[in-house]
Amino acid sequence: MSVALVILAAGKGTRMQSDLPKVLHHMAGIPLLTHVINTGQSLNPKRVVVVTGHGAEAVEACAKNQNANLEIVVQPEQLGTGHAVEQARKALLDFEGNVIVMYGDTPLLRSATLAKLSESLSKVNLSVLGFETETPGHYGRLVADKDNLHRIVEFKDASKSEKMIKLCNSGVMAMSKALLFELLSKINNKNAAGEFYLTDIVEYAVAEGKSCKVVRCNEFETLGINSRTELAKAELEYQNRLRDAALENGVTMTAPQTVYFSYDTIIGRDTTIEQNVVFGLGVVVESGSQIKAFSHLEGAFVGHGCIVGPYARLRPGTKLQNNVKIGNFVEVKESKIEEGAKVSHLSYIGDASIGARANIGAGTITCNYDGVMKHKTKIGKGSFIGSNTMLVAPVSIGEDALTASGSVIISNVPDGALAVGRSRQINKPGLAVKLMAKFRSLKAAKKE
Ligand code: UD1
Ligand code: MG
Repeated sequence: MSVALVILAAGKGTRMQSDLPKVLHHMAGIPLLTHVINTGQSLNPKRVVVVTGHGAEAVEACAKNQNANLEIVVQPEQLGTGHAVEQARKALLDFEGNVIVMYGDTPLLRSATLAKLSESLSKVNLSVLGFETETPGHYGRLVADKDNLHRIVEFKDASKSEKMIKLCNSGVMAMSKALLFELLSKINNKNAAGEFYLTDIVEYAVAEGKSCKVVRCNEFETLGINSRTELAKAELEYQNRLRDAALENGVTMTAPQTVYFSYDTIIGRDTTIEQNVVFGLGVVVESGSQIKAFSHLEGAFVGHGCIVGPYARLRPGTKLQNNVKIGNFVEVKESKIEEGAKVSHLSYIGDASIGARANIGAGTITCNYDGVMKHKTKIGKGSFIGSNTMLVAPVSIGEDALTASGSVIISNVPDGALAVGRSRQINKPGLAVKLMAKFRSLKAAKKE
């Protein structure tokens, strides 16, 4: 049976207190909506319709960025979740199959759970993803007899006894397209919120003798984000999932609770991650490496057996081949560092290529920016860059070359050459002692 997804993302998210539409807030590096689209795509849907409203342009751009083929429909006024789904009616006119309604503000749903919900339609007419919780708060309540669903009552409309129900509506629902739009034409907005509730379709389905079931899932999967507090809770839950997955895949973490991943971080087995490491988007670390405490990585590739940090910063475009060492207070950006090279202390390496086994001395800076343009630095294999060398790009250092400490290198250095780019030292015998005596007597004269 073909599947279409209708993803609701029109709401303002008033409780977020934000200028940004709610579904564009980030979790593990990407917008909530992107998480929902990714999960939905695991079902291989034939069609994906996203309902936008508040911040429609920005939400559309985010959705299309994820899947250029998805369709956008606009809900000009947010009159409720039922009204939102209604906006997809036209777009799905030529579609035959099942529809799954998802909420753009519910990013923790697992693909396996969504598959379970979708498969349940082989046995029943309508399925609602529900969860049991000790803190049902403002969620809609599922009025059910075991897993036979009778109706959904919104918190605002619930009686005292209904508010005691602990089985709640996640918002995710599945049924055939024909049934969905037939039922939607029956709902009204005569309720406490004055909204067209999607949830009301259950009661109409039951009245028609359709079978409606609850498919249960874990409470954490259905966390609907309405406030910054809930966003922080969702982030924590998602981080815990990513940490558990890394540990299960053979990554050692000394303090997993202090390590932050992005949704797409890839870490190889037998790699160790120390305390307080942050992974931004697009990081791959191969096996057997060590990422030491307080390092920050983003858009970087780290080969096998590398040592990074403590306190290292790898920025986008960093590529470390095997057994590279990046030490403390070293920043690398848009640079490729070949096998076995070392940048051990206090350096900035930007727009550079560093050959195999090269050693970059403490305090070396690639001066890559002239205030207008960026320029490249090339360092040949086996070369030794003395401490505190300024490499004024564009510049190229040959293989097995040497630069003297404190040099400012402004022109290319041939293979095997020593480059000295600093003024010659002069020693003046006895002058230090003489000068100090003079300074002291001057100070004493001032006090009198
Ligand atoms: C909704 C459910 C509730 C459920 C909860 C789960 C209804 C009536 N209530 O309540 O039973 O327990 O989700 O999180 O469905 N949206 C639109 N257009 C609208 C209104 C909402 O696109 O006119 C979108 C929002 O952007 C959001 C989603 O629908 O992504 C849910 O809306 P929200 O206002 O958060 O509903 P809840 O009050 O949380
Ligand atoms: Mg909500």
